[in-house]
Amino acid sequence: MTTTTVPADSAEARRRLADTLTADGALLPGSPWHRAFAETPREVFVPRFTLTGPDGRREVGPGTPGYLDAVYTDTTLTIRRDSAGTPVSSSSQPSLMARMLEAFTVPDHARILEIGTGTGYNTALLCHRLGADRVTTIDVDPDLTTTARERLAASGHNPLVLTGDGTQGHPEGAPYDGILATCGVDRLPSAWPQQVRPGGIIVTNIGNGVTILTVDEDGTAAGPFLTDDAMFMRARPEPGHTAPAANQFTGPVMNSTGKVRTEQPPVPADEIVHATAHEIWMLHHDVLAMTLHPDGTLVHGLVHPPTGSWARIIPDGDHVTVEHGGPRNLWAERLDLTAQWASAGRPGPGTYTLTVSAHGTHTLRRTGTAPMSWTL
Ligand SMILES: C[S@@+](CC[C@H](N)C(=O)[O-])C[C@H]1O[C@@H](n2cnc3c(N)ncnc32)[C@H](O)[C@@H]1O
Repeated sequence: MTTTTVPADSAEARRRLADTLTADGALLPGSPWHRAFAETPREVFVPRFTLTGPDGRREVGPGTPGYLDAVYTDTTLTIRRDSAGTPVSSSSQPSLMARMLEAFTVPDHARILEIGTGTGYNTALLCHRLGADRVTTIDVDPDLTTTARERLAASGHNPLVLTGDGTQGHPEGAPYDGILATCGVDRLPSAWPQQVRPGGIIVTNIGNGVTILTVDEDGTAAGPFLTDDAMFMRARPEPGHTAPAANQFTGPVMNSTGKVRTEQPPVPADEIVHATAHEIWMLHHDVLAMTLHPDGTLVHGLVHPPTGSWARIIPDGDHVTVEHGGPRNLWAERLDLTAQWASAGRPGPGTYTLTVSAHGTHTLRRTGTAPMSWTL
């Protein structure tokens, strides 16, 4: 059993965090989640973590000066990385957690499934509000679930903590009143709407936003996105899985030969390559972007591993020289998507809605002054 001593001034730090979340609008006035944040010690779930700042990464633990301040800062605390160095588990940024919990509008007696137990901190907040016997949580990584189960128990909560691929849900406990996923997905797993009762809710990160989907009688899940950008660690099919990362494809992007053209894009090349627009994330979720500095020059790259398509983009003032190969012209696609999004007034995630039919067809709609829709 993991035992963690809660420092005396934790209560004050927690209350300050809860008040700040309310003052910043992440928690609604009079929200029941305020008490949950004020009474749940985050350091129990994140005794050690990594912070990434301008000076690189630093390990933080109970002996580190300013430890409690770091725990109660509104920031993501990373606890695990894969073999490529990509973060795969963390305690998410509290303001984002708070916004998702507020969006997860389930009644007090609701039975819910959380996907992505991680440290167990968000699970503890859910247990605080709903009661542990109504909470099931699942993480793909057995080390994480073992530790989270112990830490939850040490905090007085005994929810059902399961190990497995949460994209399959947990059919034995269905139907749920709601599913809250704290790992990101590129498309809504079909199991989730199937395991939520009609009128129930699914809150999850898709693309660069958090969607709030209500499940209909016929199994359609539909709803809006929160206004803020949000990018969670992606769901992994198994604990040892290493997701394709851009730095694995620098060789092909730098050394391949293909069709060459020079043009003057209407948007700066780095904005096109490193697009954060929600609609681009939704449509180009499996295109990887990179920026390299071989011999001191600036080179951008795009790659689509499933088709082997690639593009090498060399900026020169307001022009770019683009060389590309493979079945997809990634640069032309990305340029087109970025130009469309820019001419729509650069809308944020809150401008979109998502409908997922019972057969899994995803329809993304851009609302507002420049409406548009895509079948994904
Ligand atoms: C951002 S962290 C979750 C943060 C967590 N809610 C907390 O409060 O600490 C994302 C978590 O999703 C988990 N995860 C990734 N793929 C998963 C999957 N297929 N099923 C369940 N959990 C998964 C990761 O192991 C990681 O712990």
